[in-house]
Amino acid sequence: MRVVDLDRDMSDVIPTNLARDSEYLFARMTDVTLAATRPERGRRVLDVGSGVGQDSVALARTGASVVGAEPSARMIAMAQLFQSAPLPGELLGPRWVRGWADALPFADGSFDAAFCKGALDHFDDPEAAIAEMARVTREAGLVVLAIANFDSLACRVARALDRLREDWLALGPLRGRRGYDTPSDHFTRYELALMREQAGRAVEIDRVIGISLGWGMPGWTGMLGRLPAPLARVLLQLADGIARLAPSLADVVVLVGRPRARS
Ligand SMILES: C[S@@+](CC[C@H](N)C(=O)[O-])C[C@H]1O[C@@H](n2cnc3c(N)ncnc32)[C@H](O)[C@@H]1O
Repeated sequence: MRVVDLDRDMSDVIPTNLARDSEYLFARMTDVTLAATRPERGRRVLDVGSGVGQDSVALARTGASVVGAEPSARMIAMAQLFQSAPLPGELLGPRWVRGWADALPFADGSFDAAFCKGALDHFDDPEAAIAEMARVTREAGLVVLAIANFDSLACRVARALDRLREDWLALGPLRGRRGYDTPSDHFTRYELALMREQAGRAVEIDRVIGISLGWGMPGWTGMLGRLPAPLARVLLQLADGIARLAPSLADVVVLVGRPRARS
């Protein structure tokens, strides 16, 4: 039986009071992912695991023809609620379709681009989902996957410090969920090699973009919060530049590619 917890509170995964590094990470993840679909008037874009639909609506504002696919009726109802104000001019809002990512209810090659942001690790069969995204995207169209990296620099540093604390200082484990632990609603713990392996089966990967560095690293959020805002911004941008150069250390990775040739 498939189980998706639709009532869950995301506060154990994403801090609810947005600190500077969280705000930067989520904004950049969204910007990079949506830009990678190359939205423009008339382009057909599919948002897989569209949640409450904010990304689909943002794309529809560019004139793209957007479909949000989501298994949860509750999420779709929330998306419809958020989208209740009409879009400006003749722009059409997204169409919401109920469906599982591993059995997308669309014909082959229906879209110019398909993307999945922050959701693949919630899917029980992510490889089938990626294959489906490739199937419903036209030849030479774009498949875009944005995934949290649980082997980021921040995860590695936090894990090493905890080991030091437990093994060398014999202080005992910290209570509560640690940032590098896979959240309970994730089926897969992704790191770059696994992302490449799974995506590469159905998608010819053209670009791998690392986003943000240091999210969840002990001391990082607090230090950024104490600095003057412009200086904190410069540090976040510098860290992001390093993440672009070394995506295996990044907090989030965006993979962009084209469907492999269909047999
Ligand atoms: C963390 S939310 C991300 C939503 C959105 N993409 C965003 O960036 O805000 C994960 C979404 O994946 C959906 N989901 C879970 N399992 C799924 C599956 N097998 N197929 C499609 N969507 C699924 C959930 O209902 C939820 O809306």
